[in-house]
Amino acid sequence: MGKALIIGAGGVASVAVHKCCQNPEVFEEICIASRTKAKCDALKDKLSGGKTKITTAQVDADSVPELVALIKKEKPDIVLNLALPYQDLSIMDACLETKVDYVDTANYEPPDTAKFEYKWQWAYRDKFEKAGITALLGSGFDPGVTGVFSAYAQKHYFDEIHQIDIVDANAGDHGYPFATNFNPEINIREVTANGSYFKDGKFIETEPMSIKRVYNLPEIGPKDIYLLHHEEMESLAKNIKGIKQIRFWMTFSQSYLTHLKCLENVGMTSIEPIEYEGMQIVPLQFLKAVLPDPASLGPRTKGKTNIGCIFQGVKDGKPVCYYVYNVCDHQECYKEVGSQAISYTTGVPAMIGAAMVMTGKWKKPGVYNVEEFDPDPFMDALNRFGLPWQETFTPELID
Ligand SMILES: NC(=O)c1ccc[n+]([C@@H]2O[C@H](COP(=O)([O-])OP(=O)(O)OC[C@H]3O[C@@H](n4cnc5c(N)ncnc54)[C@H](OP(=O)(O)O)[C@@H]3O)[C@@H](O)[C@H]2O)c1
Repeated sequence: MGKALIIGAGGVASVAVHKCCQNPEVFEEICIASRTKAKCDALKDKLSGGKTKITTAQVDADSVPELVALIKKEKPDIVLNLALPYQDLSIMDACLETKVDYVDTANYEPPDTAKFEYKWQWAYRDKFEKAGITALLGSGFDPGVTGVFSAYAQKHYFDEIHQIDIVDANAGDHGYPFATNFNPEINIREVTANGSYFKDGKFIETEPMSIKRVYNLPEIGPKDIYLLHHEEMESLAKNIKGIKQIRFWMTFSQSYLTHLKCLENVGMTSIEPIEYEGMQIVPLQFLKAVLPDPASLGPRTKGKTNIGCIFQGVKDGKPVCYYVYNVCDHQECYKEVGSQAISYTTGVPAMIGAAMVMTGKWKKPGVYNVEEFDPDPFMDALNRFGLPWQETFTPELID
């Protein structure tokens, strides 16, 4: 079918590369390009020899000219952005200049403001439409599969969805008192920000971690879940008709929260630069340097994740509840691709999103969120590529 340029070579990219190699009919060729080329080469060494041809390159994805030069040299059919949210706009600019389709897993965040929202990327709609190319935003698990689950519920089971509760539970144990499962800087910026939920046409802000429930998750059992702001709520609020309330919940262990509070209290999670021995350093970036690399958690993490959406609404005038979720086992993921389930649950849908665009199933000039496309081929691909989903019409509800 064609060639993908994958930017980034971290935890998520590593899984996506494995998955592209499991789908060689679509990904005949991939080029892995990142800031540290040695990481791209290590992936190539591990996976070369199969049907997918792999090349590597060094690139600074903050530089549009470097990206444009690389895209012109490699001539990919699509760019899969698995670097950090800070690079979203420069990579979109390079795709525009070279007229190549674009996919990512996380929305743009300015490095100096811990605030993620879609307005910067949605502002590219006209430009992508005019250039005749597709940008698919947020094709990870959450955002990503949660939007596909919402489109699937909307298409098959509801006339109107009134309420969505997204529950992201990680019951994995890596044995460290404190570590983050994906990029520590991005993760800590997300969980220390104010919470928010969508209610009757507007977003209501809450103090960080101030709303807590206990939810009994299939295959995991009862867990403390905390209300967070999360980016897919912004697009679902626009794209799901009749929606009245959306909340996003995530599990955190008491140990994680105690460590985080302590780090916050001493200023280690701040993104304001400070002067240290004549140098400007950002405390959160320094903290990232001393925390375990998420990629190193794979061999030590035991247990499962369960991420899903609980929908409430109406069909043919009758109330309907529907819960669709995926359970993923950290050790099974490690056995298959050498990564824990957090990278796995993001890398698989990243590959699927790129495949949807490359095969033309989700190709439409403009900038789109996943729930704007037909969910059925994506749902099939989840079952085929390692993230099978389950459903029930009698879920426990969250008050
Ligand atoms: N939607 C979801 O469900 C979901 C869940 C988890 C993560 N994510 C997103 O997935 C993305 C990747 O996360 P991750 O855990 O894989 O992060 P990671 O392990 O830190 O990997 C990031 C990669 O990007 C590279 N990179 C950073 N800045 C770059 C630049 N200026 N130029 C070129 N390469 C650069 C890094 O290079 P170095 O190796 O040189 O540092 C690294 O290889 C993030 O955007 C994250 O927010 C989405």
